[in-house]
Amino acid sequence: MKSLDELAIIKESAQETLQIRYGKPGVLHKAHIMVCGGQGCISSKCAEVVDAIREALKKHNFSDHVKVVLTGCMGPCDMGPVAVVFPDAVFYRRLKPKDAEAIVLEHIIGGQPVTRLLYRVPGEKDPVPSMYDIELFKKQERIVLRNTLYIDPLSIEEYIGRDGYAALAKALTRMRPGEVVEEIKRSGLRGRGGAGFSTGMKWSFSAAAAGTPKYVVCNGDEGDPGAFMDRSVLEGDPHSVIEGMAICGRAIGAEQGYVYVRAEYPLAIERLEHAIRKAREFGLLGKDIFGTGFNFDIEIRIGAGAFVCGEETALLASVEGRRGEPRPRPPFPAIEGVFGKPTVINNVETWANIPAIIFKGADWFASIGTPKSKGTKVFALAGKITNTGIVEVPMGTTLREMVFDIGGGIPKKKEFKAVQTGGPSGGCIPARHLDTPIDYDSLGALGAIMGSGGMIVMDQDTCMVDIAKFFLEFCVDESCGKCSPCRIGTKRMHEILERISTGHGREGDIELLVELATTIKTTALCGLGQTAPNPVLSTIRYFRDEYEQHIRDHVCVAKVCDFANGDPDASE
Ligand SMILES: Cc1cc2nc3c(=O)[nH]c(=O)nc-3n(C[C@H](O)[C@H](O)[C@H](O)COP(=O)(O)O)c2cc1C
Ligand code: SF4
Ligand code: FES
Repeated sequence: MKSLDELAIIKESAQETLQIRYGKPGVLHKAHIMVCGGQGCISSKCAEVVDAIREALKKHNFSDHVKVVLTGCMGPCDMGPVAVVFPDAVFYRRLKPKDAEAIVLEHIIGGQPVTRLLYRVPGEKDPVPSMYDIELFKKQERIVLRNTLYIDPLSIEEYIGRDGYAALAKALTRMRPGEVVEEIKRSGLRGRGGAGFSTGMKWSFSAAAAGTPKYVVCNGDEGDPGAFMDRSVLEGDPHSVIEGMAICGRAIGAEQGYVYVRAEYPLAIERLEHAIRKAREFGLLGKDIFGTGFNFDIEIRIGAGAFVCGEETALLASVEGRRGEPRPRPPFPAIEGVFGKPTVINNVETWANIPAIIFKGADWFASIGTPKSKGTKVFALAGKITNTGIVEVPMGTTLREMVFDIGGGIPKKKEFKAVQTGGPSGGCIPARHLDTPIDYDSLGALGAIMGSGGMIVMDQDTCMVDIAKFFLEFCVDESCGKCSPCRIGTKRMHEILERISTGHGREGDIELLVELATTIKTTALCGLGQTAPNPVLSTIRYFRDEYEQHIRDHVCVAKVCDFANGDPDASE
């Protein structure tokens, strides 16, 4: 693409298609049926539902009046397959191929939503037809996921119709590289991959670094168990990541980007490959973008599914084709990254925020969230909670709102016990802290972390020793073995937890766990080891009595550990 006019023409024509999805009458169609085509809904057989809808439309001679679109993940994966019918934004869940006939006959032709397929608040009789009236969607603010429900991820035109590539155009034609970096700094955006470092600062280090060429890397490794935020962005809106990376290329003076995605995400890889191909075809990647002389291209690197490869120095080694093992920092990747050259590495979600910030401005972004944590955060809600799936909320939303309003509370009238944030590097937060706002500093103060967005809710039937053991076991398995505090120390901690949970715990074991944890945290080489003890420390901090009951009384209140009858030998 050599000019802004070309972009404007594509945008105008795509907006005609898209306007029905904002509730306006369609230009070409009476309705758009958006069926979720995220990995979760694919697993619950959404393809068969789409086929059945197309068949029913054909049977009733309505194919020309209705557009059926396969989107990225819409969020409520546990209700899948889900669909939204525009212009009235009617939300259907748990669809089966046999429901297609009713949707076409009653809703599309008859004008009445199919009541039995609508969402109902658990325990309430009346359904909630419009997606905009469902609490799960209402409380969200979608910046990162701005497009995932509204566009076909395979259509670059639809992305452009939603202001896609307008930020890149702005960065290339109306801003100097230094201004782009300043804008990101001013926005207050912090990295969404876990540590929460200022994105603008990171970019400024690479921009100022001496070596060339420079590189831009997207971390799509997403190894936390249960997390799939990044996967949904890559599957549902791959162009947002491509555009974000290209903007950074312009800002720091890089011409090459790499997206590192795990091999277990075949759909994300497929959609990203397609998006890169389309962006090249449209001249939005490649040489002389918008006729400005700026060149930028992206390659995909596929990881083999090791958690440690998400750590930035291990990831960069893996991008180069070497064994994915962390190395000491400094030097930080911003100064010495891929092939020893200055490299900006950011998380998928961080990248997806960039076009929105450049397009709408730093002030807009900084007006959302809390004083030190700006914008929104995407979470993968899981565990003992009514609504599981992907949600995006403004920073500062409380844990209580997350669990009870958005998540719909704890099913089967059970008691809330704790919420775990930050995956294997994070911590468990008990009920008395439910009014804590979700931001980097507040979660850190509680011994948890924001992490990349895993959020697991636990009820009264969860044993906190068992949960700590689960996360630690994950880190023991995933440790690369390079340094002894992590390789040996986490194993020793796991052995202690194992004996506590089988009724062989000893007096002093809690103190020993804390001592080992503190040593590992301060001496391990990389973040995996440095954070591996967090789930143990946080459960000891808030649920010490449970550890003591296991050790002294051989009692597991949650009845998870196998000496629940008080006989420690029962497990042998
Ligand atoms: C063991 C380990 C695994 C990590 N996995 C990921 C990951 O899957 N995705 C990610 O973006 N960051 C991950 N990180 C953080 C990265 O090292 C790095 O901080 C991040 O990619 C920087 O991007 P951001 O500034 O946008 O957050 C991991 C860190 C550690 C220690
Ligand atoms: S802390 Fe663990 S994962 Fe990191 S380098 Fe050491 S052994 Fe490897
Ligand atoms: S995959 Fe369909 S709602 Fe998440």
